[in-house]
Amino acid sequence: MMFDLITEVEETSRAAAGSEPERQPAEPEPEGSVRAAEDGQEAEGRAEKQAEEKEKAKKKKPKLFNKLDKSIKSEIDAAEKLRKKGKLEEALKAFDSLVQRYPQSPRARYGKAQTEDDLAEKLRSNDLLQRSINTYGEAADIPDVTSDLLRAALKRRAERQQFLGRMRGSLATLQKLVDFFPDDFALRNDLGVAHLLLGDNKGAKKVYEEVLAVAPSNGFAKVHYGFILKAENKIAESIPYLREGLESGEPGTDDGRFYFHLGDALQRVGDDSAYYWYELGHKRGHFASVWQRSLYNVEGLKAQPWWTPQETGYTDLVKMLERNWRTIRDEALAVMDRGKGRFLPEEENLREKGEWGQYTLWQQGKRVGNACQGVPKTCALMDRFPEATSCKRGQIKFSVMQPGTHVWPHTGPTNCRLRMHLGLVIPTPGCRIRCTNQTREWEEGKVLIFDDSFEHEVWQEADSYRLIFIVDVWHPELTQYQRQTLSPI
Ligand code: LMR
Ligand code: MN
Repeated sequence: MMFDLITEVEETSRAAAGSEPERQPAEPEPEGSVRAAEDGQEAEGRAEKQAEEKEKAKKKKPKLFNKLDKSIKSEIDAAEKLRKKGKLEEALKAFDSLVQRYPQSPRARYGKAQTEDDLAEKLRSNDLLQRSINTYGEAADIPDVTSDLLRAALKRRAERQQFLGRMRGSLATLQKLVDFFPDDFALRNDLGVAHLLLGDNKGAKKVYEEVLAVAPSNGFAKVHYGFILKAENKIAESIPYLREGLESGEPGTDDGRFYFHLGDALQRVGDDSAYYWYELGHKRGHFASVWQRSLYNVEGLKAQPWWTPQETGYTDLVKMLERNWRTIRDEALAVMDRGKGRFLPEEENLREKGEWGQYTLWQQGKRVGNACQGVPKTCALMDRFPEATSCKRGQIKFSVMQPGTHVWPHTGPTNCRLRMHLGLVIPTPGCRIRCTNQTREWEEGKVLIFDDSFEHEVWQEADSYRLIFIVDVWHPELTQYQRQTLSPI
C-alpha cells in the first residue's frame, strides 16, 4: 500500500501523482461544529475569546525583516507591491536588482523566490519553479535570517519540491525544518508525509511515533500512523488510530484513503461499523456510494455492479471469448503444466486465506514483457479488441484459485473499467463471487461482467482449482479522448 494517490491497488502499479482530473473530494463538513446555544453569556465569552485571538495573531505576525532588510524596506515594499499587483516581470527585475545590490538580504531573496514561484505558476514553467525552489533555499541559508522567514521559505520550498515530484529534496528540506523547530508537530507531520511519499513507511512510522509520544491526541499523526499499521497488516491495531484520527477532524485527516482503510480494517475483524465509515466517506464526497469506493474516478459514468454484454456494447468481444474459450483454456493449462513460473501469487494482501495466482498478459494498456509468447493464440485473439488491450486502467490476465481461498471484500481503484470473467475451469459447487449484494457463480465458456469499483468478495470452496480469464475493458461511456489521456493505473 503506497501513500500516493492510489489506495488499495490490486495491481502493482500506481498512477502518476498529480495528474488526476477527477472527482474532487468535497469540503469536509465543519467538524465538531455543534452549535452553541445563542444566549448572551456565550456570546460575550466568544467576543472575549475573539479579542484574545486577535491579540495573539498580532503578536504572532511573522517577522520577515532582519536589520539589513529593514534598512532597505521601502525598496523591498515597492518590489513586493509589483508582485502583489501581478506585474511579475517587473517585480522580478526589482527583486533581482535588490539581490544584486544586497546579496545578504534574506527578505529580498525571499521576494525573488516568491516572484519566480508566481511566474512559474503563470507561465506553467517547471524551470522557473526549480529556480524558485533554489532561491527559497538561498534565502533560508543567509546568515541572520529571521526564524520566521526561514520557516516560511523552507516550508514553501518543501511544498514546491513535492509538487515537482522532487520527493528526496522535499524530505531533506523538511528534515532541516524539523531540526530548526523541533517543537513544531505540524512540521514533523509533514516530514512523515514526505517519508510516505517516498515509500519509506519505516521512516514515517518513526516520525509519527515521536509525535504521538509527546502529543498523543494529535489527529494527523494518529490517522497516518494508523495508515502505516494497516499497511503492515496490523489490522486490529490500526483501527483506533485511524478512527480517532478521523474523529479529530483535524486538517489533513479528511482523506478518502483513511475512510477506505478504516472500513477495510473493520470489515476484516468483522465489525459492522465499517459501513458507518463508508457512509461518512460517501457523505463527505470521497466515495461515489457506500458500495462503490474506488478513489480514481471519472464522475457521471453509469454505475452498477453487474452488467450484461448488451449494456456494455462490447458484444463482439464477449462472443469472441465465449466462442474461443477452449483455445484460451488450453493455452493457459499448458502454461500451468509447464510449472507455475508465470503465475505470480497475489501480493496485495486481499486474501484471508488460500492460494491465488495470476498470469498477466496486458497491464496499463501494454503487453507485459514476453508473457504473450506463452499463450500466442490468446494474445492474437485479444489483439482485435482495443477496448481491452488499450485499457490503461486495467489488465488482461489468467487467474487461478485453489480450494480453501477466501478473498476479503474489496474494491478496485477506479470506476473507469469493467471486468469480464471468462470461466475456463470451474469446479462445482463451491466457487462464487459476490458483488454488492448479488452473488454469482462462474460457468465454463461463459462471461460474467462486473464493475470492480463496487465491493466484491470471492470464495473458492470446491475440491480442485478454479481457472478464469480476466479481461478489463474501458467503461463504455468514456470518450476516445479520455481513454487516451487518463493516467494509467
Ligand atoms: C477479482 O477480480 O477481484 C477476483 O474476482 C479475481 C478472481 O480471480 O476471482
Ligand atoms: Mn477484485
